[in-house]
Amino acid sequence: MRRVALGLACLAVVLVGQATPSRPSHAAVYARYAVAADHPLASDAGARVLAAGGNAADAAAATMLALGVVSPASSGLGGGGFALYYRASDRSLTFLDFRETAPGAATNDMFARREGDTDEVAAQRSMTGGLAVAVPGEPAGIDALIARFGSRRVTRAQIASHAERYAREGFAVSRYVSDSSRVALALLRGDTLLAGWLGADGIAQGARITNPQLAATLRTFGRQGAAPFYRGAIARAIVDAVSARGGVMTAEDLAGYAVRERTPISRDAFGRRWVSAPPPSAGGITMLQSLALLEAWQPEGGWREGAAFRHALTQSWIGSYVDRAAYLGDPDHADVPTAALLADDRIARRAAIFDRDRALPAERWELPLAPDETRAPSAPPSDHGTSHLCVVDEEGNIAAVTTTVNLLFGARVSAAGMVLNDEMDDFARELGAPNAFGLPGGAANLPRPGARPVSSMAPTIVFEGSRPVMCVGASGGSRIPTATEQVALVSLLFDAEIGEAMSRPRVHQQGSPATTLVERGVDTGTRLALWRRGHDVSETPTVANVQTIRIVRRDGVVELHAASDPRKDGEPRGE
Ligand code: DON
Repeated sequence: MRRVALGLACLAVVLVGQATPSRPSHAAVYARYAVAADHPLASDAGARVLAAGGNAADAAAATMLALGVVSPASSGLGGGGFALYYRASDRSLTFLDFRETAPGAATNDMFARREGDTDEVAAQRSMTGGLAVAVPGEPAGIDALIARFGSRRVTRAQIASHAERYAREGFAVSRYVSDSSRVALALLRGDTLLAGWLGADGIAQGARITNPQLAATLRTFGRQGAAPFYRGAIARAIVDAVSARGGVMTAEDLAGYAVRERTPISRDAFGRRWVSAPPPSAGGITMLQSLALLEAWQPEGGWREGAAFRHALTQSWIGSYVDRAAYLGDPDHADVPTAALLADDRIARRAAIFDRDRALPAERWELPLAPDETRAPSAPPSDHGTSHLCVVDEEGNIAAVTTTVNLLFGARVSAAGMVLNDEMDDFARELGAPNAFGLPGGAANLPRPGARPVSSMAPTIVFEGSRPVMCVGASGGSRIPTATEQVALVSLLFDAEIGEAMSRPRVHQQGSPATTLVERGVDTGTRLALWRRGHDVSETPTVANVQTIRIVRRDGVVELHAASDPRKDGEPRGE
């Protein structure tokens, strides 16, 4: 329980800030291209690359690199992520998995409680320090995005130049980064780079900080791509920093890293096709299961925004979190029954569980797969901060990217100017033990050499017929898929203008804990109606941070409605 409390404290850290009324700058309409990131300087880097002739892949790469500089609490070259890319010329959809991997010396019980551990000490081991760091995938992922889909009209050095400039010349610290530093203050003091930015009270909002080491690292990336991060000087710096803080990552672990190309998952619901992240993400499955159930539960005349809809939303998510704990893992290391989890008959059986008037506990949503639907998750071998962005370019290519170092400032360990991730906490520390987001993990998600931990990240593209109509995704741990889905539905189903859809207060429910979380803006009437249905309602500062671009066609003219969540500090850019 302490672990949960600690985890939720981390989550509160991740989710600093309040749902605020729309600022005029958080949403805008563009005619040619658009970038929506959670920091204006990052959106700006992407838009500049587009203005210079780059495409969505080039711009997404520039935006990711810039984010790692100006928002180091959330993402960067020391982390990893997922990119869903739509190429307009052949209408292809590709999912690049550049999630971090466990080092070769990882064992199932590496984070199990040791004798004499306090709860805090046991929990921190997978969140702060060398053991928490998984092999970064971000450099290889950005390189792959450029190599696979880039326009070749801009060079990698041009793409990296904006981030490099921010790191060298400095940038003003955002409210989000400042707030984040205050909450993680004591933990940041253990690292020379991070400690160097701190005042007595954290990193001051508006303070100008530089990161010359990261500028040099970005210059290397611009010239040589990802190679030096996996073999060479930067790789050595990563191993040294991790070892100095008690980690077990080796040069071989870095040399063995590879981006995986996977088939995205998709499903039809509400007259649209929803394409999202496959395992090792659980986020896409949560969203697709939920959409199918909501469609099945639709009242005559369709859903209207209100308490009944919010009740249905919360109920539609719980089963997928139960499934996640039971079946999800890295598909390259465990049998993950993705198709069975999304099968029509299974959705129909779960649809029949719903009670319009009563919130049901997680146990009621359990639906074990039959032996012929899946082999059991393989038995474990015995030996052994986040950011979402959307880019749409003039050719119609779309990049939906979610990138992470996991908790704020990752493992609070830096190397070559980069903040290293603490993605090891996304594994199951012990069977059933909740991670920082309160998510219990099963056998398929125990740490094992080379495996990728289960994620909630769900970069998503929505289609009407053959045409893409929306790019959307979020940061915010277990709340990622639920927030992403709400913004998409409010915009597409209820036809709210995108800035408005983004500002609308959100709810969240993940079965365990059983609480239904509501943002401050959820009105008393709705709270009461949920309470009457048996929900244990509790207020939360924010349900994740969403970035989105809706593609609207009016009389043959394309409008790009872009929005960055006012809960964070983002602003879209474009032309
Ligand atoms: O992959 C995941 O699900 C987590 N590492 C994401 C963490 C996150 O979203 C933190 N948020 N702001």
